[in-house]
Amino acid sequence: TYIIAEPCVDLLDRACVEECPVDCIYEGERMLYIQPDECVDCGACEPVCPVEAIFYEDDVPDEWEPYVKANVDFFDDLGSPGGASKVGKTANDPAFIKGLPPMNT
Ligand code: F3S
Ligand code: F3S
Repeated sequence: TYIIAEPCVDLLDRACVEECPVDCIYEGERMLYIQPDECVDCGACEPVCPVEAIFYEDDVPDEWEPYVKANVDFFDDLGSPGGASKVGKTANDPAFIKGLPPMNT
């Protein structure tokens, strides 16, 4: 799967959402998250993010490793809804994301 990391926090550009063919990029209050079971690894989202926040899971920089778990934990309650557009914005950001200081604004 692909992972969204820290440059997305508080920026939420959403260019990636337009590109995803399976609508698997879900919105929290601080950033967006890729549903790992729904992502088909097409990679279309990665080049369109203006701040290079999206990485293939094996290529996430060490400093942003906690975001791999965050992209999974975001879906603890949501599960696999099968489409982000019908879900809309949620308050499911993991605790460590909620606790981050304001950034990237
Ligand atoms: Fe975030 Fe980049 Fe998408 S800033 S919402 S990952 S286009
Ligand atoms: Fe969608 Fe990006 Fe995966 S475009 S299918 S989230 S690689």
